[in-house]
Amino acid sequence: MTSDTVKVWDGWIRLFHWTIVLIIPAMWWTAENGEMTWHMRLGTVLLALLLFRILWGFFGSSTARFGSFVKGPGAVISYLTGNRREGAAGIGHNPAGGWSVLVLLGVMLAQVGLGLFSGDPYDGATGPLNHIVGAMTAGWMTDWHEIGFNVLLSLIALHIAAILYYLLVKHENLVTPMVTGKREGQAETGGIESASLMRAVVCFAVAAAVPIWIWFVAD
Ligand code: HEM
Repeated sequence: MTSDTVKVWDGWIRLFHWTIVLIIPAMWWTAENGEMTWHMRLGTVLLALLLFRILWGFFGSSTARFGSFVKGPGAVISYLTGNRREGAAGIGHNPAGGWSVLVLLGVMLAQVGLGLFSGDPYDGATGPLNHIVGAMTAGWMTDWHEIGFNVLLSLIALHIAAILYYLLVKHENLVTPMVTGKREGQAETGGIESASLMRAVVCFAVAAAVPIWIWFVAD
């Protein structure tokens, strides 16, 4: 690493990000093509990834932590009105982007949560927890599962538009750091504080326990 290059994203955040970028289109494709067994398998993996990301937001490296990028309305307004130094020490998500991360994670989690209860046992596939709710509840959850996908799609479009805006208007490439983990020209900010491999393993084990329990015990 040169003195002008700092690490801004740990490997777990990057692995999480690019895995969801692959999984979400695959989940759409499997649902559209009636491959519901695969749709549910991928949903189970996505649930583990989302739970891992939430735990990593408390126990992970400095730029992964919610505390480093979830700021109050004052900081968001100040950032949006031109005080560009409000970002977490210049690296990580800026105050406006921080809220978009929370919304994206929240909508994905809601989407997976609804999917667990969705479906009609007399007509097609059902989520692994469908049997614990009544038909009416499962019905509205299925409707919201469909609406939720369109909401998620709009948010993803907005997310990509924001990244293109940074690239084309502000001449700031955010994508390369999300691939390599490093950003150039900000050595004075010092880079991230990493979290140990053991922490990542424990967070992942806890996150994976929930979908494993759902799949093998609650189903
Ligand atoms: C399925 C589509 C996508 C979803 C659901 C998604 C979701 C997310 C989430 C949740 C984060 C926050 C990362 C974290 O802190 O955990 C993020 C960040 C980011 N995403 Fe995506 N993303 C998607 C597609 C893309 C694509 C296609 C690109 C680029 C071509 C991209 C580029 C980025 C970048 C550069 C960041 C970091 C932004 C920053 O510097 O604050 N994303 N994305």
